[in-house]
Amino acid sequence: MRIILPFILTLFLFSCKQNTSEKSQKAYVHPSVKTKIVDKAGVVCANPYAAEAGNSILLKGGNAIDAAITTQFALAVTFPLGGNIGGGGFMVIRLNDGQTDALDYREMAPSSATKDMYLDAQGNFLDSLSRYGGFASGVPGSVAGMVEAHAKYGSLPFVDLVAPAIKLAQEGYPITQLEANRLNKSKRIIQAFNRAPVAFVKEHPWQAGDTLRQPDLAATLTLIAQNGRDGFYKGKIAQAIVDEMKATNGIISLQDLADYKAIWRKPVQGYYRDYQVISMPPPSSGGVTLMQLLETVENFNLDTMKMHSVDAMHLMVEAERRVYADRATHLGDSDFYPVPMEGLLDSSYIHARMPTIPARATPSQEVKAGHPKEKEHEQTTHFSVVDPFGNAVATTTTINSLYGSKVVVKGGGFFMNNEMDDFSAKPGVPNQFGLIGNEANAIAPGKRMLSSMTPTIIAKDGKWLMVLGSPGGSTIITSVFQTVVNVTEFGKSGSEAVAAGRFHHQWRPDTIFIEKNVFNNSVLDALRSKGHVIVERSNIGAVDAIFRTPKGKIELVADPRWDDGVAGE
Ligand code: GLY
Repeated sequence: MRIILPFILTLFLFSCKQNTSEKSQKAYVHPSVKTKIVDKAGVVCANPYAAEAGNSILLKGGNAIDAAITTQFALAVTFPLGGNIGGGGFMVIRLNDGQTDALDYREMAPSSATKDMYLDAQGNFLDSLSRYGGFASGVPGSVAGMVEAHAKYGSLPFVDLVAPAIKLAQEGYPITQLEANRLNKSKRIIQAFNRAPVAFVKEHPWQAGDTLRQPDLAATLTLIAQNGRDGFYKGKIAQAIVDEMKATNGIISLQDLADYKAIWRKPVQGYYRDYQVISMPPPSSGGVTLMQLLETVENFNLDTMKMHSVDAMHLMVEAERRVYADRATHLGDSDFYPVPMEGLLDSSYIHARMPTIPARATPSQEVKAGHPKEKEHEQTTHFSVVDPFGNAVATTTTINSLYGSKVVVKGGGFFMNNEMDDFSAKPGVPNQFGLIGNEANAIAPGKRMLSSMTPTIIAKDGKWLMVLGSPGGSTIITSVFQTVVNVTEFGKSGSEAVAAGRFHHQWRPDTIFIEKNVFNNSVLDALRSKGHVIVERSNIGAVDAIFRTPKGKIELVADPRWDDGVAGE
């Protein structure tokens, strides 16, 4: 497998070129609703059929956790590039009485993983091995996560929560132009990593409006509905995963699957001004990094600046540069590495990292991680749910890259993740998101790879105010950060905050990435004259969020950049 990988990748790149000209001939209008003001409850996620599925559970009297479970399974069907049962994720919960909780169902390194498993004999990082094929997969956590969430907070029978996804997989759903383009572009690489025919590949190019049916996945979901975690981590599906691993150079064993556990963790919580921030702790970097960003800018009257002005962008980028330097050094799975959580979240530490706004861009090579006190030792998808009882759930789930490792479990019908690339395979060498890491995020058996996923709930005056998150690898945290401050500092409505152009800095590379054709040229020139390097890129993030409006209504907002949709009443 190691030898044929470069050949497969060449084929893939060639096929991308060929397929870019494949355009749909059919006029197909996707039913996605982008924003909706509702009174009671709703779901916002990457696919409108999944949003409807989640909302159907709310209409039956289910709570936000029930609806989130249904949405996770429905996205595994209708958003195969990122929604999943072959990956993992995080769920942040705020109940109507103010209680909070965080569920970690992140993938885990297999028991035979080793620190240097992606290095050759000379110590070079073989990044294709951590991104493609079975060797790139961590032990999936999504099914264990959903079963665990249901056991603790569910109110409707589990079998009812999986039913809408089974129906979508059996009967199929019409795909959009964007989905058709993505499937066509990925055809060769999916074929290269799969022995059997898979639902995602067909002879002629996909077109918008074509129905995608997934009978194998329907059968897998039925086993999960009937048997809970044993339907996936034991028996037929567990054996199919292990067989697929053997066929594609993977190392996940039956024991690894049987041993996998979703873990309840204490959310990262803190105040920024009078907003209560509730977000995900390690193994995600999201909550700590978001909290550090908000606390850094809190010191500098961001609310007196204009959104996307030179002053606001300079301040936010300088905060991001410092905070991502900390992320690279200090954050990893806290069950394996003594993450200095209290030190990193200490206000005086955060403020000391940037006591004043630097007049010019600080070169990233001059910015090092800080020394917090050790008091204690792009593709992903996000969805937000609120129910009529006042409960809120923010969930981000992933198989890492587009279609994960590209490996579909034969007979199981689902893509396996390539989450192992989120570990730091070699200190200081970037992963696919350009992120670098160190010992804190080194590979170890059973360890969970560091994530940027940032499912977040902001509360104010005893009620949830915003429920949000995003996909986008390293840009997840800055997408969430900007959406929050667009509302709290710049006075934007929820839909304006989500639609606003995004920019991103992650310390290394020393570059501000900006969305194309959004920012004012005079602002960009002024930032360059302060010493910032600016690079344009395509869309950043996909924030699917729910906001409480000043009039007490509920604003469901799907990111207009993609196919995402809302459903609610
Ligand atoms: N796989 C992207 C993340 O977890 O950050």
